[in-house]
Amino acid sequence: MFYQVYVRSFADANTDGVGDLRGVRDRLGYLSLLGIDALWLTPFYRSPMADHGYDVADPRDVDPIFGNLDDLDELIRAAHQEGLRVTIDLIPNHTSDRHPWFMAAGSAPPGSAERERYFFRPGRGPDGAMPPNNWLSVFGGPAWSRLPDGEWYLHLFAPQQPDLNWSHPDVVADFEQTMQFWLDRGVDGFRLDVAHGMAKPADLPDMAEPQAPGVLKHADHEADPRFDNDGVHDLHRMIRRVADKYADRVLTGEAWVVDDDRLARYVRPDELHLAFNFRLLEADWNAEMFVEAITHSLNAMSSVDAPPTWVLSNHDMDRHVTRYGGGELGTRRARAAALVQLALPGVAYVYNGDELGLPNVELPDEALQDPVWERSDHADRGRDGERVPLPWNGAEPPYGFTEGPGTWLPMPADWGGLAVEAQLDDPDSMLSLYRNALEIRREHPAMSGDEVQWFGAPTGCLAFRRTGGLVCALNAADELVPMPPGEVVLSSGPLEDGMLPPDTAAWLV
Ligand code: BGC
Repeated sequence: MFYQVYVRSFADANTDGVGDLRGVRDRLGYLSLLGIDALWLTPFYRSPMADHGYDVADPRDVDPIFGNLDDLDELIRAAHQEGLRVTIDLIPNHTSDRHPWFMAAGSAPPGSAERERYFFRPGRGPDGAMPPNNWLSVFGGPAWSRLPDGEWYLHLFAPQQPDLNWSHPDVVADFEQTMQFWLDRGVDGFRLDVAHGMAKPADLPDMAEPQAPGVLKHADHEADPRFDNDGVHDLHRMIRRVADKYADRVLTGEAWVVDDDRLARYVRPDELHLAFNFRLLEADWNAEMFVEAITHSLNAMSSVDAPPTWVLSNHDMDRHVTRYGGGELGTRRARAAALVQLALPGVAYVYNGDELGLPNVELPDEALQDPVWERSDHADRGRDGERVPLPWNGAEPPYGFTEGPGTWLPMPADWGGLAVEAQLDDPDSMLSLYRNALEIRREHPAMSGDEVQWFGAPTGCLAFRRTGGLVCALNAADELVPMPPGEVVLSSGPLEDGMLPPDTAAWLV
């Protein structure tokens, strides 16, 4: 059971309004109480923050905004003492444009060795004024930017995130060094950013049909040469070899790959251990779509004997309370979805704030910071709405997130009831639901085994049984439905005369 800490937004210890490593350390007691096993910390490396830390200028140091290396050491020590594992984000696909390699490349002439660690190419058309190919940046606009000397460089994300050339031995050697640096400090593993993006086809062919921009969509390698190239698997084997020099470390890949069999390739026995299943996160509030998403992922993973990895929200996608309709309805559905997610075999990731039922926040234009907003010419508001700091206590912003005067994104005036303190002792709160569910998931023998057996269920509903005997039933339809037989151990909302109401899920044994 992993918990994703979006470090900027979790807890701020140094009062600058941005979350930091000491803030995480100070709240470990809360995470233990919640009942998780491991953390995933989003990037805290030295960065100009063009993409909030996913643009890394020094992958082996902590950005002062988040603290320093001592703070990280202390966090790892304290987490281990609480019995929590610590995994961190690594960003293999690109660096910051302020990374020493890119700075050297920018001041070296076209054709120089310094440029070979990235993708520099002459342009097309008269005077090379057109980009070298038709690839689009995931954040909008062309995936190429031009330097004053006329050469173009590739960036699948923001222009401040130039793509690394993984055919270059320096890139491989440096990444190994980075992994060892953190593994030696005691981190328990890595989440690999854009794990399907590192290998590019040598000739950088045009895309068949340029895909509309949009943050991370499932890539189809047939039509989209930017992602999921076969060459990426040798890189993951290399990464696995480094991790295997240490005992008990885990590698989770972010691989947005459309085809299940191709996703399974990332978690073959000599590659990564886990790969997020984003199909569940992409499914609408619809039982048939849930069943399809779950079945696909189970089949894909069982073909290579890897555990499935379930996720409902993260820092890149609208929060599920909002996706399922927002307000009371969205919250009721989010409670039910949590019981589906947490009943499934394998690994689950909770995004910080899922356990509080946080919705997305509609931020005013002037507050928006995600590069997607500018890159899309204001067509896409970006991901700030799911990154608003967490409310801890009190009735008004900043709800104990910081003792400083402001927060890096404004917090809504009506989040007092969602704060941790307000939910902790309320048996009906989202937080209590998560705590109960996680306790059962951890301790109940009915949760054992890897198999999921589907039951016939009324239209708009689903029901499955785990090997150990736990039954999970979800009613995503409009009418009350009968419950499967068994004793209810947890439900996401009140039952009515033994029937399962709409937008409700229950666990039975
Ligand atoms: C991360 C995003 C980031 C992008 C570029 C994604 O996979 O989750 O937050 O913007 O990679 O690094």
